[in-house]
Amino acid sequence: MQTTAPLESLPCADGRWQPLRLAPDLCRADVRVAADQAACIVVDHGQVVWVGPEAALPACHAHLPRHDGQRRLATPGLIDCHTHLVYGGQRADEFAARLAGASYEQIARAGGGILASVRATRAASEDELLAQALPRLRQLLAEGVCAIEIKSGYGLALAHERKQLRVARRLGRLCGVTVQSTFLGAHALPPEFAGRSQAYIDQVCDRMLPALAAEGLVDAVDVFCERIAFSLAETQQVFQAAQRLGLRVKLHAEQLSNMEGAALAARHGALSCDHLEHLSDRGIAAMRAAGTVGVLLPGAFYTLRDIQRPPIDALRAAGVPLAVATDHNPGSSPCLSLLLMANMACTLFHLTVAEALAGITCHAARALGLQDSLGLIASGRPANFVLWQLDAAAELAYWLGQRPPCRIVRQGRIAA
Ligand code: NIG
Ligand code: FE
Repeated sequence: MQTTAPLESLPCADGRWQPLRLAPDLCRADVRVAADQAACIVVDHGQVVWVGPEAALPACHAHLPRHDGQRRLATPGLIDCHTHLVYGGQRADEFAARLAGASYEQIARAGGGILASVRATRAASEDELLAQALPRLRQLLAEGVCAIEIKSGYGLALAHERKQLRVARRLGRLCGVTVQSTFLGAHALPPEFAGRSQAYIDQVCDRMLPALAAEGLVDAVDVFCERIAFSLAETQQVFQAAQRLGLRVKLHAEQLSNMEGAALAARHGALSCDHLEHLSDRGIAAMRAAGTVGVLLPGAFYTLRDIQRPPIDALRAAGVPLAVATDHNPGSSPCLSLLLMANMACTLFHLTVAEALAGITCHAARALGLQDSLGLIASGRPANFVLWQLDAAAELAYWLGQRPPCRIVRQGRIAA
């Protein structure tokens, strides 16, 4: 099995990082560095303790070792706030079937789709799932990702959901990256419950979720609310179970049809509603009132050759914060580049470059409830930042294809 450099062997990032250029809008508002000024980030014990113009570096930090930033562009570590990274197998056959005319819904109703990945995931051991997910995670990390959400939802039975969530935790420890794990037991109806949806949801709420939460494996709870998945009433039951355990919720909402799931999720204080192609005005108003983040997933839109775009103008007008994520999964978004998603959020969904960059940093942090520690370069936060050899921050969304960073500081350590 592949391994990765143990955390202890990664060099500590403590010292003065200077001179740098800071990407506009991705620092806390109190950081004032003019575009033509060199900047400095000071890291002590893995925490950012000062950010500002190099010329104003306080004398108390002057003794710290200096890292030569070579005037490179610094951004916060990127955040992929919606992935299904842990699963067995792949589904290239479905890609071919869709090209030949089958729809995502038809494939799902015929027992393929999510259930095909459930079969492969159940057949794999925990170590096998880890070995399959690790290169995928490494590919995302190599692009500057410093925090990632990973959902379960391909196990659909206690032991198999546990296996997925344990792998998510192990990946975080192994790679020194913040992993938020989301329980998505209500992703699809498993075959052994065919025709007994209510009985499965009872199992999810009364047995699976409490057990996995007690084991410390769950940071948030998600549901696929859709006509090929779970109803509004079933979604509400899962949300209530989550709230009894003090867990925040989020939703796969209005991807294929308008179920009014976003409004329900917002009423339950959802961190985010994700997909949103068929989102209604009611949903937008409820998300705005609750401060719920809208997570845009252009990889799924593109892969499924969808034509219904999320109502971006209305979301923007309402002031709903918009994040952008890969939705990495073997069916609707086999994508391992968050920067490509930023590009596609601009080209397919008409986000501005600034919106797309906020979408993979500060708004993505908010979608995970981690806005106080991640997503911005600011003192008092763990050191998570990336240096790029680029003239302008807009290049992050402009290039098609990999633009590898020149330095990655993750969790206070120099990761690359
Ligand atoms: O976010 N929409 C539901 N879940 C995933 C797809 C899962 C799959 O097809 O395996 C999504 O697109
Ligand atoms: Fe998803």
